[in-house]
Amino acid sequence: MGRDQRDRRSRQLGGHRFVGGDLPAVNFRKDVLEGLARPQKALPPKYFYDAAGSKLFEKICRLREYYPTRVELGITKKSLKDIARFAGKRCALLEYGSGESLKTRLLLGALQPSVYMPVDISSDALRAAVKRLARDFPKLGIVAVTADFSHPLGIPAYRGKARRVVYFPGSTIGNLRRDEAEAFLRMTRGQVGANGAMLVGVDLKKDPTVLHDAYNDAKGVTAAFNLNLLARINRELGGDFDLKRFAHYAFYNPIAGRIEMHLVAREAHKVNIGSYRFSFYRGESVHTENSYKYSVPEFEALANNAGFKLAKFWTDPRRWFGVFGLVAV
Ligand code: AVJ
Repeated sequence: MGRDQRDRRSRQLGGHRFVGGDLPAVNFRKDVLEGLARPQKALPPKYFYDAAGSKLFEKICRLREYYPTRVELGITKKSLKDIARFAGKRCALLEYGSGESLKTRLLLGALQPSVYMPVDISSDALRAAVKRLARDFPKLGIVAVTADFSHPLGIPAYRGKARRVVYFPGSTIGNLRRDEAEAFLRMTRGQVGANGAMLVGVDLKKDPTVLHDAYNDAKGVTAAFNLNLLARINRELGGDFDLKRFAHYAFYNPIAGRIEMHLVAREAHKVNIGSYRFSFYRGESVHTENSYKYSVPEFEALANNAGFKLAKFWTDPRRWFGVFGLVAV
């Protein structure tokens, strides 16, 4: 069966297919060795999401202190009709970093897209999500893509001239520096085309205490999530990190407008990863994540620079989180 035939069939009968397999482990290895060799040690946050990390992240999303998931879900529920009207029925809906795809279920019901394309770096999380979605939306055509969306990705072939709408919820865009976020929006603008649109969920600037608590939960789930990165290096790259020798440290930097997460060595020691050896001094940090926060005008300016205009904006009564409806200009 040719690709076109297969696509047509999946469009008519629902059904789903997967594009891309697990990401090559060599990238993980290379990025880890490179990141730990820098004067300021750093590890890319996209590697948080192995099977264990994805589970921990789902747990974070249910924490009292971690408001973004809950608040964004509330906004989506309350404004669902308006959001669906903005995207347009029967559009081709692409979702970046879909993970559990919780908010997506609401959108899928309201939007009835002609095709749904979730893109996620974690094939485990993606497979689990697609399995549930296929059961609950039997008529929906799903093309699931395992990919690192921080690099340009080809949209898999699908037939039809449906309007392309990229859904990018969860404030995942916060992981990118401002210049990277702008470049990412510009890339997406190219992907959706002249008549395309984008729905972006963005965590907004607010009382730093609220931000601080969201990344320093009382149960220590965020700490476990952060430390899992070292456990993953042990599991997959033969590292010998002793997790007890590192402390989770997260704080809001109001000058940079971002939460920074670090793993800080509690004492001077050495760590082996295969034949590589890394020294830590007491108090040395591994920078594991940035989570940028925006004001509404800041994010609008970023979108404008990337070739979008702000057509719609939805928020909660406290203005803690924003869902931006962007259209191509
Ligand atoms: C998935 C990147 C949006 O930055 O809030 C949650 C990840 N890190 N707690 C965020 C995260 C620590 C989350 N994002």
